[in-house]
Amino acid sequence: MSALGILRALAVLGVFTSLHASQRPNIVFILTDDQDVELNGQDPILKTRELIGASGMTFTNMYVSSPLCCPSRSSILTGKYVHNHHGINNSVTGGCSSPEWQLENEGSAFPVYLKKQGYNTFFAGKYLNQYGFPQTGGVEHIPPGWDWWIGLVGNSVYYNYTLSINGTAEDHGDDYGRDYLTDVIHRRGQEFLGIQSQDRPTPFFMMLSTPACHDPFTPAPQYNSTFSDARAPRGGSFNLHAKDKHWLIRQAITPMPNDTIEYIDTTFRNRWRTLQSVDDMVEDVVKTLDAKGMLDNTYIFYSSDNGFHLGQFSMPYDKRQAYEFDVKVPLMVRGPGIAKDVIISDSVLNIDLGPTFIELAGATPPNSTDGMSLLPILHGTKDPSVPFRVQFLTEHSGVGADSVPGCPQYQGQGLMVCKMHCVCQDSRNNTHACLRYKSNSVDYKYCEFEDDDNFRELYELKQDPYELTNVVDQINPEILAVLKTNLYDMKICTGDACHGSNSHQII
Ligand SMILES: *[C@@H]1O[C@H](CO)[C@@H](O)[C@H](O)[C@H]1NC(C)=O
Ligand SMILES: *[C@@H]1O[C@H](CO)[C@@H](O)[C@H](O)[C@H]1NC(C)=O
Ligand SMILES: *[C@@H]1O[C@H](CO)[C@@H](O)[C@H](O)[C@H]1NC(C)=O
Ligand SMILES: *[C@@H]1O[C@H](CO)[C@@H](O)[C@H](O)[C@H]1NC(C)=O
Ligand SMILES: *[C@@H]1O[C@H](CO)[C@@H](O)[C@H](O)[C@H]1NC(C)=O
Ligand SMILES: *[C@@H]1O[C@H](CO)[C@@H](O)[C@H](O)[C@H]1NC(C)=O
Ligand SMILES: *[C@@H]1O[C@H](CO)[C@@H](O)[C@H](O)[C@H]1NC(C)=O
Repeated sequence: MSALGILRALAVLGVFTSLHASQRPNIVFILTDDQDVELNGQDPILKTRELIGASGMTFTNMYVSSPLCCPSRSSILTGKYVHNHHGINNSVTGGCSSPEWQLENEGSAFPVYLKKQGYNTFFAGKYLNQYGFPQTGGVEHIPPGWDWWIGLVGNSVYYNYTLSINGTAEDHGDDYGRDYLTDVIHRRGQEFLGIQSQDRPTPFFMMLSTPACHDPFTPAPQYNSTFSDARAPRGGSFNLHAKDKHWLIRQAITPMPNDTIEYIDTTFRNRWRTLQSVDDMVEDVVKTLDAKGMLDNTYIFYSSDNGFHLGQFSMPYDKRQAYEFDVKVPLMVRGPGIAKDVIISDSVLNIDLGPTFIELAGATPPNSTDGMSLLPILHGTKDPSVPFRVQFLTEHSGVGADSVPGCPQYQGQGLMVCKMHCVCQDSRNNTHACLRYKSNSVDYKYCEFEDDDNFRELYELKQDPYELTNVVDQINPEILAVLKTNLYDMKICTGDACHGSNSHQII
């Protein structure tokens, strides 16, 4: 038999197929909770920036489809905008992990495609805020596509919680060594990596979804007093009163009282502290992959579900706003074929992650996907002079808080800060949809609010990066008309129509 004949025979025997499968890359996805970019949220994760960012790409314009955990996470899993997956808030009635959401979306979430491609899949940490409760299927519910399932019941906490371990409840108390959630996720991840090897025929996908740096911002004891001199960033819109913004923002008290500012600074430090445990986890992921000779065949993604504010426009703390601080998040990626130490300024979105994972696994994302695979950027095949997308959408469905001041009936429900300075952090009429239009020459954010005033806001981010001045009444009406039409189109888009190409162009 000729050499070619032998190759053909081997191919028929499927030897190359399995060889090919074993060469598919492994993928690690680290997702943090509420980690911002705009308040220097990436500063404290030095090791992560070195081991992922400087060893690959750092995206400076990564946005989420919604500035709230459950809607954003639902978008990450499905690759869909909120108006297409219908998980509009953090409640079961709003589609957060609800039986309807599961039925409609979980069967076509990215892990299902990875599983079909023969991936060994692992999940640990916070999934969706309402996961694991009786009305959402209890801890027995393991979302399809995952082989190893370590799912947190409910929302982020650091101690005193229940995990679903492959469908069985495991209760945790508040002993640091045993129970600190970020470290539990860290150790479970190491356990999984420990049994992977370069010679195994199956590649793996591992998702580590940490509570850090979400409320209640509880650091590990060894980090309890680090960054003791750090303060929340001043400047930008910090402690400013915004007269030209929608109702909710106009209710803020300016200047903020000193004790509120103290509270903001304490929160800022504790957020950074909780991220130290994430940084340790990332370091060990990279070390273990390296020790096993698997680092060169593994992509590592690092991102967050939404941003955060601490004193911007005098709002003490929260997310849920349309501004950069709440919708922009970190994204760093390293892996085979990715150049080192590269900064990418294209607008990319949380809905792009799922299709990227699916394509890395050798499959085609479903046509229901609103996002786009990042592979052309990661592998340097995209024309750098053409933006990856020209426009995108962010959506938020306002929640609760029907009375002012201080929304008293919502006290204790996390919708407001009432430690010292009572301010509504959300209201039903904080329902907004924004179009971001960013070409090589212009950069606009246009938002419409569903309130009694039909309030609109427009920012020219090139000149006004902190969104201090609402120019909706000063803009050229022709430009405004294009933005309005494009926002309308994006609010009802599905699939390809959501890809943000330049449909109605601003010249
Ligand atoms: C979430 O959305 C649902 C459906 O619109 C609504 O009934 C519910 O009140 C919302 N949750 C909160 C906390 O506002
Ligand atoms: C969870 O299930 C996976 C897949 O069946 C299995 O390999 C793993 O050992 C299980 N993990 C635990 C902690 O039981
Ligand atoms: C955990 O729960 C126990 C028992 O309810 C309580 O005493 C303890 O303060 C809680 N720990 C934390 C960190 O919340
Ligand atoms: C962390 O430090 C604060 C004061 O700085 C203290 O109140 C708290 O008990 C400490 N927590 C732990 C877990 O060490
Ligand atoms: C608040 O802090 C500022 C700046 O540190 C200080 O000048 C001012 O006196 C303080 N106000 C009160 C009421 O303590
Ligand atoms: C996806 O493809 C199917 C079948 O070709 C089609 O019916 C459906 O409308 C497409 N969906 C989108 C969002 O393009
Ligand atoms: C927004 O909602 C609040 C609380 O219900 C209400 O007082 C206020 O008038 C509303 N503002 C607008 C502009 O709709």
